[in-house]
Amino acid sequence: MSETAKIILDGKEYELPVITGTENEKAIDISNLRSMSGYITLDTGYKNTGATTSAITFLDGEKGILHYRGYSIEELAEKASFTEVAYLLLDGELPTQKQLEDFNNEIKIHTLVNEDLQNIFKSFPTGSHPMGQLISMMSALSAYYPKSLDPNRSDEQKRRTMLRLIAKMPTLCAMIYKKRTGHPFIYPNNKLDYVSNFLNMTFKHVSDEYEVDPVYVDAMNKLLILHADHEQNCSASTVRLVGSSHASLYASIAAGVAALWGPLHGGANQQVLEMLEQIKADGGDVAKFINKAKDKNDPFRLMGFGHRVYKNFDPRAKIIKKACDDVLNKLGINDPILEIAKKLEEVALKDSYFVERKLYPNVDFYSGIIYRAMGFPTDMFTVMFALGRLPGWIAQWKEMTKEGQPIGRPRQIYTGNNLRPFVEINKR
Ligand code: CMC
Repeated sequence: MSETAKIILDGKEYELPVITGTENEKAIDISNLRSMSGYITLDTGYKNTGATTSAITFLDGEKGILHYRGYSIEELAEKASFTEVAYLLLDGELPTQKQLEDFNNEIKIHTLVNEDLQNIFKSFPTGSHPMGQLISMMSALSAYYPKSLDPNRSDEQKRRTMLRLIAKMPTLCAMIYKKRTGHPFIYPNNKLDYVSNFLNMTFKHVSDEYEVDPVYVDAMNKLLILHADHEQNCSASTVRLVGSSHASLYASIAAGVAALWGPLHGGANQQVLEMLEQIKADGGDVAKFINKAKDKNDPFRLMGFGHRVYKNFDPRAKIIKKACDDVLNKLGINDPILEIAKKLEEVALKDSYFVERKLYPNVDFYSGIIYRAMGFPTDMFTVMFALGRLPGWIAQWKEMTKEGQPIGRPRQIYTGNNLRPFVEINKR
């Protein structure tokens, strides 16, 4: 007989099914608890709530394990290209050489964006945050592909929308960078691979020759792969929730980008660099900032530290820390910020406050140092995160829509006033 859980409420016993995942993860299925007993479960911030089953990403926060479709993040970051990983996330299997070539060619068909989108960029004031622009651009795409609004489109039509998004994202991210610098946009060059094309559109000047540095390409591929999916995090859950109302994929992704922007989520990478700069400008006293982070009366937090699910180490951070050393060495850059980051990590990892709370460097702690070495300004860092996370968001959306999951609609426990009579304004 399959495993069940028993719950006793008001003296009555209810039996609930237990669900077991392929990595032996266990969950009590409470979906019928309210209809049986009148009770709901309460879990603010979803700290212990599974919102879905999923076959995309496996994560064990206690052991520091992260797998995409059964492949370890360490192997993927070492051996795969970003579009190979995007294919894996979307289709479930690693592509053959031919399948990958076809996939890359399909993406290349869609890399241009409508010229009219340039007018939207023109309307943004110089200096507007790149993430605000990216949110607008994701939803603006829906205006050019109105058929994408139909939730009953064929799988083939849905696939085209997914490909368009993956293809146009680098073009739009590079345009955001150019808008920031006030330089003319560079059109996609479809002779280049996905990452090289993005770097070319970003760093090439119209009048100059530009050769993409393979060190940059390797580093970007790695960083994008490490960010490509992270199961039911804040932005992926947002994409699923918005998509569950049958809003278009463009709208769902725009919502995901918005969720990612927050400093507790993807926005942390910008905050880390700003924090390290602040420590440097303050004279480099790491202990002072550790004490600030521990002080409950001080809103300062050690950015790039701590994670909702990783309670031992973040495997992505381990890989990025090593990549950071490699890239800076290869580029011959000696960045004092890296020394401050390492010192901060060393001191925090010995401090009982961080040890007791199981706070470790996360994916965002070292990534910004690499992006900075490559020439990206700090406010572009979260855009880079979004570029990497896009295939994961799409894969989550695809899985949800394929399974026909119901609209996401949490419940609540009401704590406001009981019913009371309306008092007319002159009597209040
Ligand atoms: N600095 C100082 N204290 C911290 C930090 C930090 N970075 N993170 C958590 N704490 C403390 C927190 O104050 C709390 O202490 P106490 O138990 O005494 O009240 C305890 O640790 C648990 O923290 P929490 O906020 O309840 O944990 P959470 O799971 O809700 O939050 C987090 C996770 C990532 C939001 C949080 O660790 C944080 O704010 N970190 C800094 C922001 C950051 O780096 N975010 C990027 C996350 S990784 C990229 C991504 O995938 O989004």
